Amino acid sequence: MAVLSQAMVALGLALMLFNIYSVARFVSTQRDVLTGKSDVTLSYVILAFVVVFAIVYAYIFFQNFAEPSIGIILLSGSAFVTVVLQWIYTLVGSIKETAMDIAEALSTVIDARDRDLRGHSRHVEAISMLIYDALPEHQRSKINKTNLEYAAIFHDLGKLGVPESILNKPGALNEQDWVVMRRHPQIGVDILQPVKSFADIQDWIRLHHERIDGRGYYGVPGDQIPLEARIITVADVFSALLMKRSYKEAASYDECIAIMRECAGTQLDAQLVELFCSIPKDKVMACSRCLYTTDVSN
Ligand SMILES: [Fe+2]
Repeated sequence: MAVLSQAMVALGLALMLFNIYSVARFVSTQRDVLTGKSDVTLSYVILAFVVVFAIVYAYIFFQNFAEPSIGIILLSGSAFVTVVLQWIYTLVGSIKETAMDIAEALSTVIDARDRDLRGHSRHVEAISMLIYDALPEHQRSKINKTNLEYAAIFHDLGKLGVPESILNKPGALNEQDWVVMRRHPQIGVDILQPVKSFADIQDWIRLHHERIDGRGYYGVPGDQIPLEARIITVADVFSALLMKRSYKEAASYDECIAIMRECAGTQLDAQLVELFCSIPKDKVMACSRCLYTTDVSN
């Protein structure tokens, strides 16, 4: 019976160590646009409790004085804590998934006002995620993937503040139209202003039309453009080139790559362009499923 008791305490201890790992991982990854304002202190309190439990379990195990009833109670307790924690993670995951579905649904409202966009926001989101996944570890570890995803999907949110007469104007825009059009990154930031947890991504949205040579919408120099904004810019330019628009034909994948290489180092970040070109063509073109158009060539 003593062996059985020790085995139950050992299993309980293993579950508690697993819980420490899972809570620590949850705390370290919950600082994104959805959970940024949540109570992190409470998470650390829960982590501290789990650590104390694990120490008690270890003490009882190494003192070797567990009776069968104590073994059953300790194993049941750790199993209960594990189940509750897993339930919380599943709930948070489900809420995050629903929030992303809502964001993607909202992006169709942004795109619907411009006959040229047709799924562009989700396309930029998908391409940005591909670039993120291809980044070297030292760059990827500095980027919050969820934040980048939300910034990419909402990058053109400010077009809601641009009159449809400009968005859908046949032919080239005049200088006055461009003055209004150049406001859309800032309008997007203004719309998101009340959402405090989106503060971290506002700059990425505001700077998505900036250029490495400093000749973008707001003239911000390349070294002051965050990596996240540069990723969205590369994805945005590829999407715009690939889609047929009222003022131009759709470019093929190879034509897009050639044009982007020409823009590397002036309009676009050269390292990101090379990284993007290294992603297999079939993976890149699979993202075109987001576009509600057949005007995309290969
Ligand atoms: Fe834009």
